[in-house]
Amino acid sequence: MKTKFFISGLMLSAAMTLSAQQQAIVTIHADQGEQIIPKEIYGQFAEHLGTCIYGGLWVGEDSPIPNTNGYRNDVLEALKKLKVPVLRWPGGCFADEYHWMDGIGPKENRPRMVNNNWGGTVEDNSFGTHEFLNLCEMLGCEPYISGNVGSGSVEEMAKWVEYMTSEQGSPMAKLRKENGREKPWKVKYFGVGNESWGCGGSMRPEYYADLYRRYSTYCRNYNGNVLFKIASGASDYDYNWTEVLMQNIGHRMDGVSLHYYTVPGWTGSKGSATKFSTDDYYWTMGKCREIEDVMKRHIAIMDKYDPKKQIALIVDEWGTWWDEEPGTVPGHLYQQNTMRDAFVASLSLDIFHKYTDRVKMTNIAQIANVLQSMILTKEDKMVLTPTYHVFEMYNVHQDATFLPADLQCAYKNVRDARNVPMISSTASRDKEGRIHVSLSNISLTESADVTINLEGINGKQVSGRILTADKIDDYNTFENPEVIAPKAFKDAKIQKGALLVKIPAKSIVVLEIK
Ligand code: AHR
Repeated sequence: MKTKFFISGLMLSAAMTLSAQQQAIVTIHADQGEQIIPKEIYGQFAEHLGTCIYGGLWVGEDSPIPNTNGYRNDVLEALKKLKVPVLRWPGGCFADEYHWMDGIGPKENRPRMVNNNWGGTVEDNSFGTHEFLNLCEMLGCEPYISGNVGSGSVEEMAKWVEYMTSEQGSPMAKLRKENGREKPWKVKYFGVGNESWGCGGSMRPEYYADLYRRYSTYCRNYNGNVLFKIASGASDYDYNWTEVLMQNIGHRMDGVSLHYYTVPGWTGSKGSATKFSTDDYYWTMGKCREIEDVMKRHIAIMDKYDPKKQIALIVDEWGTWWDEEPGTVPGHLYQQNTMRDAFVASLSLDIFHKYTDRVKMTNIAQIANVLQSMILTKEDKMVLTPTYHVFEMYNVHQDATFLPADLQCAYKNVRDARNVPMISSTASRDKEGRIHVSLSNISLTESADVTINLEGINGKQVSGRILTADKIDDYNTFENPEVIAPKAFKDAKIQKGALLVKIPAKSIVVLEIK
């Protein structure tokens, strides 16, 4: 079947049908760069869910799997390369059933619990506050703690903050010292509940807003540690939740969250991660891109109450959600990760970069073995997913200056009346003055000749890397871990102040211009 593509945009205004090749024009406005892309846009999320923590990050000191103080060496090394800026923990839904005191002290004395949200697995609490915060120190990332509002008390939350961050002298600092840690940790990000409209307590927004005010009052700043308090925000299209929180909490919060999953629906089958049609694929691209409209509407509400943009929108759960892999434990949300997932990552990051005046952090779900993960593990084996490779290739944009750009390219009408551009791009300038341009060609059949106008950029050299696959449903396995991996990209040249790029179908390219 021949696909019809339509060109939209100012310069390429006439609708036309393309055959084997498309054309696109990107104009980068290097002189208009104002916003820094906070590194926290590349945040991660680790929940006590399935094998994310146990088996994924943590195997314990006595494991035959090579580890450093219980953390898997292979995973640690991979995460260091990723430059993880911030890690959210312990949930998710798990957070609102988690009682932090069960996860401190000698491991043999820690009580067990049933993980009611996720498959009824028995949780032995061997990975707790110390294990998490020490991991963050090893990775050099900020911790983002999700506090328990749903089933926890104000006192419990207040004492957790005191335990983690207060200096000697306080009762909780004394307990921390008895458990082997004298100095407080630095904890910046603190979530006051998670999905309080659902697994976090089935609350109405008015009720949650009052609870937020109460709980957050007792989350103190100890000894120079200043908390950035994040309210449990809306799901997807629930604009009323954001409105009520902005009205009733306002500047008592530093951030409000938003959860948006690229999922075909919350009831019934979500579809296989690896077996999907062309139609499903393009639908996924459209659904993923819809996060932009959703964010814009939440931001418009926030702008009404906070025109100076002092309250951040924190997209602390996003990514694909498919059916669990056949044969895996129900409730553990273990899914494979194809080139389709890689595009959900690149397209989403391209969108987040545009809104960093309001969006200050995002956390893809999740870091290992759960949903759209970076890493899959099986006993002593580890595989990096296509999504990992996108995050690794894109980490050049962390803390760089976002450079606005115009894009003209072909569009395709997809299911549910969405109109999807075939090319996505983003650009930034890093502290050393290097320009990085990321380009995704989501077309399954057509390569693209992309002309990148480098207004105000005196580029002399270009180099790049490409992530692509023979088939869109290709993925990395424990037996064949390098089916999809970045390779050097040579099809870019600078000519008369423009960068000419030939990007193959279903490819993601990151270019560096010096
Ligand atoms: O990421 C999996 C789950 O999705 C989280 O626990 C919850 O917050 C969301 O519904």
